[in-house]
Amino acid sequence: MISTNHRLIIGDAKNLDRVPDESVDLVVTSPPYPMIEMWDETFGLQNREIERMLRKNEDGKAFELMHRELDLVWNEVARVLSRGGIACINIGER
Ligand SMILES: C[S@@+](CC[C@H](N)C(=O)[O-])C[C@H]1O[C@@H](n2cnc3c(N)ncnc32)[C@H](O)[C@@H]1O
Repeated sequence: MISTNHRLIIGDAKNLDRVPDESVDLVVTSPPYPMIEMWDETFGLQNREIERMLRKNEDGKAFELMHRELDLVWNEVARVLSRGGIACINIGER
């Protein structure tokens, strides 16, 4: 039987500083989806410029900024994943 360790950390996925480099074998995540309306507020709270762009109907700019927020998460995911580790990312269709 395989034994596993579980540690629950509640926080911002852009800052996983309590997780050492290359220490995670599997990441499974379902991030908020850029330009799916129900996640607009979540992104807007993370970056006020996104909120401003959405209000001005600058959808392309908002989309780009939302992805820049997610890029900060992907940087952390790449850092903590072990060599050969797997990241499973659930993405929305548009
Ligand atoms: C598409 S939903 C996934 C929901 C999850 N699968 C569940 O069943 O509860 C995206 C989730 O990511 C959270 N979230 C958004 N930005 C985050 C961040 N920077 N760090 C951690 N969680 C975040 C949202 O609050 C939301 O709960």
